[in-house]
Amino acid sequence: MAELLYGEPVAEAVYAELARRLAALPYTPSLHVVRVGEDPASVAYVRLKAKRARRLGLLSTVHALPEDTGEAELLDLIGELNADPEVDGILVQLPLPPGIDTARVLEAIHPDKDVDGFHPVNVGRLWSRGPGVGLDPCTPAGIMRMLAHYRIPLEGRRAVVVGRSNIVGKPMAAMLLFANATVTVAHSRTRDLAALTREAEILVSAVGRPGYLKPSMVRPGAVVVDVGITRVGTRLLGDADPGVAEVAAAVTPVPGGVGPMTVAMLLANTVRAAERRRG
Ligand code: GUN
Repeated sequence: MAELLYGEPVAEAVYAELARRLAALPYTPSLHVVRVGEDPASVAYVRLKAKRARRLGLLSTVHALPEDTGEAELLDLIGELNADPEVDGILVQLPLPPGIDTARVLEAIHPDKDVDGFHPVNVGRLWSRGPGVGLDPCTPAGIMRMLAHYRIPLEGRRAVVVGRSNIVGKPMAAMLLFANATVTVAHSRTRDLAALTREAEILVSAVGRPGYLKPSMVRPGAVVVDVGITRVGTRLLGDADPGVAEVAAAVTPVPGGVGPMTVAMLLANTVRAAERRRG
């Protein structure tokens, strides 16, 4: 059976380090989360982010805007938050309602306050200079932290990332590349996906289709990072079929694997943004 790579102990280590850094600051960093509409998953995620921020000792404000909020109004709010010296981190929860241009909204956030790491300036810094230069997307940054914690070697190894989103797949590929892995990005149009995934020593799946990743698609001894978290009824299911644990050397469980890391890295970005911007 595969070793289970749990996120909670790694997240706790991140929180402990952040608490130490916060204690040394003469101010309290602030996180502002903007949510538009009442998408139930977004409501739950935003609540969790704000709660964790407060528990760590950050100032946390949620801006809950009605579903019919216009793009101009949203851009105005972002402009105010950009200009406010007391605001350290800004996050606009996705997805936004139809009719709002997501790219335009993300590009309006000041790159130095962009704690999601989605602004093109931060994307460019990641791809050209590597992680840790700008603000990096939280989920792949959390995965890198987990791989380091569990001492999974990456250098020279074959990594396959399934999924090419701006939130996970693309930044994950950049980070693995900077860690000197040989990286392939697969997606919904990839032909013979199984042949490709079977080559992977590190297999990151960010698809969101429960159980699609079958044991036959996994190389014996591989490390499988399961980023798929899909709610089915009351259960949370990952991309990996349960049988994958019989083939892989290590697997991140769902829930309890990557999940706890994403909020931890969001708060890490908030503290980092504050330290950098306020000097
Ligand atoms: N929706 C799903 N994942 C994310 C994320 O990482 N950040 C934001 N802002 N919205 C999301």
